[in-house]
Amino acid sequence: MQDNALYDVDVLVIGSGAAGLTLTLRVADRWRVAVVSKECLAEGSTLYAQGGVSAVLDRGDSLASHAADTIDAGAGLCDPDIVRHTIERGPEAIHWLIEQGVPFTRVDGDDPDRAYHLTREGGHSHRRVIHADDRTGQAIENTLEELVRRHPNVDILEHHVAIDLISDAAADNRRRCVGAYLLDRRGQRVRPVRARHTVLATGGASKVYLYTSNPDSATGDGIAMAWRAGCRVANMEFMQFHPTCLYVPGQAPSNAARSFLLSEAIRGEGGKLLLPDGSRFMPAFDKRAELAPRDIVARAIDHEMKRLGIDCVYLDISHKPAAFIERHFPTIHARCLELGHDMTREPLPVVPAAHYTCGGVMTDRRGRTDLPGLYAVGETAFTGLHGANRMASNSLLECLVFATEAGADIHRSPLSAPTCDIAPWDESRVSDSDEEIVVTHNWLELRRFMWDYVGIVRTTKRLQRAHHRAALLRSEIEEYYGNFRITHDLLELRNLVTVAELIIHSAMRRRESRGLHYSLDYPDPLTDGPLHNTVLVPQAFAGAGQPVRWPDSDEHGPVATVAKPARSPAQRAH
Ligand code: FAD
Ligand code: SIN
Repeated sequence: MQDNALYDVDVLVIGSGAAGLTLTLRVADRWRVAVVSKECLAEGSTLYAQGGVSAVLDRGDSLASHAADTIDAGAGLCDPDIVRHTIERGPEAIHWLIEQGVPFTRVDGDDPDRAYHLTREGGHSHRRVIHADDRTGQAIENTLEELVRRHPNVDILEHHVAIDLISDAAADNRRRCVGAYLLDRRGQRVRPVRARHTVLATGGASKVYLYTSNPDSATGDGIAMAWRAGCRVANMEFMQFHPTCLYVPGQAPSNAARSFLLSEAIRGEGGKLLLPDGSRFMPAFDKRAELAPRDIVARAIDHEMKRLGIDCVYLDISHKPAAFIERHFPTIHARCLELGHDMTREPLPVVPAAHYTCGGVMTDRRGRTDLPGLYAVGETAFTGLHGANRMASNSLLECLVFATEAGADIHRSPLSAPTCDIAPWDESRVSDSDEEIVVTHNWLELRRFMWDYVGIVRTTKRLQRAHHRAALLRSEIEEYYGNFRITHDLLELRNLVTVAELIIHSAMRRRESRGLHYSLDYPDPLTDGPLHNTVLVPQAFAGAGQPVRWPDSDEHGPVATVAKPARSPAQRAH
């Protein structure tokens, strides 16, 4: 199981979506990079992105308008400086993608002299979403993947799962990140990697919910690892539910049940939301109707489903010509046909599903975290861009901009190579599990109570229930982790329960309704006092080996946690 031959690299990038691959390409000409992915390189949320990337690319549009829409969608919690910083860099980020070869859709077929087609999505007051049909993520991921695979300075470690970050005290006695332990899933061995810079680009955590649009990889590993390593985590109560995923009756809560997304661009191109009797309901909820920001649309659907006792509502674009639908939404059209729905002729049954993690590891505008040597970029990071609700297609934009900025920072401030010894991964006190069922059972239980108690509409009582269950599960999982040899599933479950607790604790602290966090006990936004982010502060670096401590639900001070007993004696593998 152990492979303690030390592997040295300049930059260790954990995650190979839009954020990880962009950063890799931005630094690889100068530094030796290793990119790690727990599946094959392409797998991750980026691959499934449909709608596109938002940026100001049209003369009639403006940076100020994009910023105003972002801030409006974010329900008062966006950092206006970060919004400006990101949006100003949007056009350059898109031009870089075009230079790399991403085949964005043009207004009139493939004619290279034609301008790019821009679509519209919820919250945007202009057409400003550039896309590659309805498979934008695939176009970006495949293009960047090909470049990374060809780059002579890049080593690719597919099917490797980062277990934990490794930190060490530098000469000035400040702790810094010096790499990570990786589980090679195929060889079932642990490899320590030592790096000058480590980058978390591990995506979001929507798999903490039973139903999600996300792929299996979205288990919040980067957030949990950074938390265990002592980094602050912010705004985890703002988990975004996408309003329109295809409803499949009797959908089993298994891995295969990932909900298929029906892009917001369908509404951007004229799609309407209907009740079973064919009537529209969104105009009663918001003057922007179907193009209101996502939190409003998802909550309205949830409200109507509960009010009428129905399993789904409907998304209808069948009033548009069939050729228009097939041209704009070829992937969605084909997939729906496979599942027995012809969107050119009939409304599609839809339900909301967990989609995006607005909170995450706190970073500055260069992607730097609290731990020197450690960056976080993409969905795993909290930059201040999204506030209480991310606007559509601002996520890929954030991945591109912050990966570029972090890359520039790595160029500017090269750390000296760590010379510390990395302690071997110690498996001497663990054995093979004879009860894998515990992992499967806990995995399902966690995702189910998160869906039932910490979903679109919350109450204090439901949050308290979730809090008790999560604490119980955590202690069971910790015991299991301490006694048995690690597996991929166990690592993910351990991370998911940490993320679940971060979400629940953040939700308990927000005593108002704002953006994606809606509580029946506090239905209104607070109007007096300053607006605040929910920042959770680990009791950084204190006494590894002690049990995790979470505050009572009423406690308002910083949340304290301490890493699970390290398996390696010298460094702290958090
Ligand atoms: P990801 O692309 O999710 O990549 C994460 C990577 O980390 C993967 O390679 C994974 O294997 C790896 N990883 C995770 N944990 C570990 C570990 N422990 N060890 C090693 N590797 C690990 N946003 C938009 O802006 N526009 C859209 O149109 C859009 N459409 C979307 C449609 C769908 C169906 C989904 C799910 C999301 C969509 N989003 C969209 C959101 C957007 O796609 C994601 O936020 C974005 O792609 C995240 O990119 P990322 O690089 O941060 O992470
Ligand atoms: C979609 O196409 O609806 C997803 C867009 C996003 O998540 O930004």
